[in-house]
Amino acid sequence: MPLVTVRQAVRILQEGGLVGMPTETVYGLAGLATNPDAARQIYELKGRPSGHPLIVHLDHYQKVAAPDPRADLLVRAFWPGPLTLVLWRRWENGHPVIPDEVTGGQDTVAVRLPSHPLARALIRAVGPIAAPSANRFGAVSPTTAAHVREAFPGLPVVDGGPCEVGVESTIVDLSSEHPSILRPGGVTAEELERWLGPLGKPSDVPVPGTLPSHYAPKTRVVLSTDPEGVAAELSGRGERPAILRARPVADYARILYAELRRMDQSGYSVIVVEPASDQGLGAAINDRLRRAAASTNAAQ
Ligand code: TXA
Ligand code: MG
Repeated sequence: MPLVTVRQAVRILQEGGLVGMPTETVYGLAGLATNPDAARQIYELKGRPSGHPLIVHLDHYQKVAAPDPRADLLVRAFWPGPLTLVLWRRWENGHPVIPDEVTGGQDTVAVRLPSHPLARALIRAVGPIAAPSANRFGAVSPTTAAHVREAFPGLPVVDGGPCEVGVESTIVDLSSEHPSILRPGGVTAEELERWLGPLGKPSDVPVPGTLPSHYAPKTRVVLSTDPEGVAAELSGRGERPAILRARPVADYARILYAELRRMDQSGYSVIVVEPASDQGLGAAINDRLRRAAASTNAAQ
């Protein structure tokens, strides 16, 4: 794998190329957020439909989005960290700072400041970075540099070690009067409500990452609170089940994607997964597990 240093990655980004970037949540497929061509390369490499917007990673959201007092509160409380804010795009000299290619043509932009020191070093050096998770569209997100290599063998990657959080950031929509969570993640609803008051229901506009086809291994996934019982039954029917047991939520989030990948590559016919307890990060874990189960069953 072409592992690169931060210095080399800075050069590649500045020349309009892409790199694998570690963050505390999952690895990102990174390009300059102000470069429409870099965004086009990201969509092409990921196999992602171009209407699906990218998250912009940066230090001060006001560079690319309109000021919002609720955003100021959340930034003070949770940045750097696993929280993405959807805000109105900022315009300068008749143009949006972040091009349509990155926002999927929307007038809002998603922003976050990751806490991983190497991501922060890249942002400091090149400015705002657009990065979706570094997996092919619909597949399981990468939590190590080796996972990124499996999806994109030729991509230069900055190796920042295994991701500490392990599931994607929470996405909060601040573009309407009533904030709502578009995707549960590393910051919990309870934590957000302390700052925002009661959260609204998300709007009906479907966003990618909220489609059931996301986060899925190829092997069928079955959710059960009695994984041993279900696995025994499946074995009796000639299946070869793997079992993924629940554990404390922070540990579970950290190992979840790596374990799903490992089990996906080990010749099992089905993965029986025990849901997490619903507190804290458990909501994000169970959200991803439900999507994995829904789409692998639909694919049968
Ligand atoms: O933890 C994370 O958020 C990771 C790391 C790399 O930062 N990134 C990530 O990106 O998960 P991606 O592209 O896999 O998911 C981005 C999500 C998508 O569901 C997308 O629809 C949503 O963010 N999104 C981006 N811009 C948006 C916008 N303007 N309005 C609504 N949703 C938006
Ligand atoms: Mg993703």
